[in-house]
Amino acid sequence: MALKKSLILFPMLALMLQVLLGQVHPSLAQESRAMRFRRQHIDSDNPCAGSITYCDVMMRRQNMTQGACKPLNTFVHASIPVVDAVCNNNFTACANGQRVCHQSSSRMILTDCVLKSRSVYPNCTYWTNPAIKNILVVCDGNPYVPVHFDSSI
Ligand SMILES: *[C@@H]1O[C@H](CO)[C@@H](O)[C@H](O)[C@H]1NC(C)=O
Ligand SMILES: *[C@@H]1O[C@H](CO)[C@@H](O)[C@H](O)[C@H]1NC(C)=O
Ligand SMILES: *[C@@H]1O[C@H](CO)[C@@H](O)[C@H](O)[C@H]1NC(C)=O
Repeated sequence: MALKKSLILFPMLALMLQVLLGQVHPSLAQESRAMRFRRQHIDSDNPCAGSITYCDVMMRRQNMTQGACKPLNTFVHASIPVVDAVCNNNFTACANGQRVCHQSSSRMILTDCVLKSRSVYPNCTYWTNPAIKNILVVCDGNPYVPVHFDSSI
């Protein structure tokens, strides 16, 4: 019995050690919800995403075209601290009416990426739609930071 247990436990401990030591490929390690939000929604480097192919490039680069084409995604062109600060604002209603969102105090420079209706996976092609709007996000954790992009208004 003890032998059987150790046969199961040892590979698990070995895997945990590998993760701790960073030997496992990073994509296999669990991405936090905050990290996922940043990957999908923050593009600080691109203050005015001028190009019409912006969404084609960025949706692929940010890994939102793997397994399926993500149908809709908004990029916020602001720094991480500026977007994180939205979580300091009072609770307000999300698009579905639940008062679990936080709204930005001012409008932000955004790019809405909308999957073209004729796009067929794996060729994900998008409409690139610039916008200047307030964002609504859901925040969680400690530090309390955005983990879900709700909508823009
Ligand atoms: C996208 O996925 C690849 C492979 O899984 C990974 O190497 C890369 O860092 C990811 N890119 C981002 C922006 O997370
Ligand atoms: C946030 O909520 C507090 C407490 O309800 C209220 O006193 C304050 O005025 C609100 N702030 C804003 C900007 O609405
Ligand atoms: C994807 O696009 C490439 C280049 O435009 C094309 O060669 C390929 O056949 C397309 N694949 C699918 C599955 O539509």
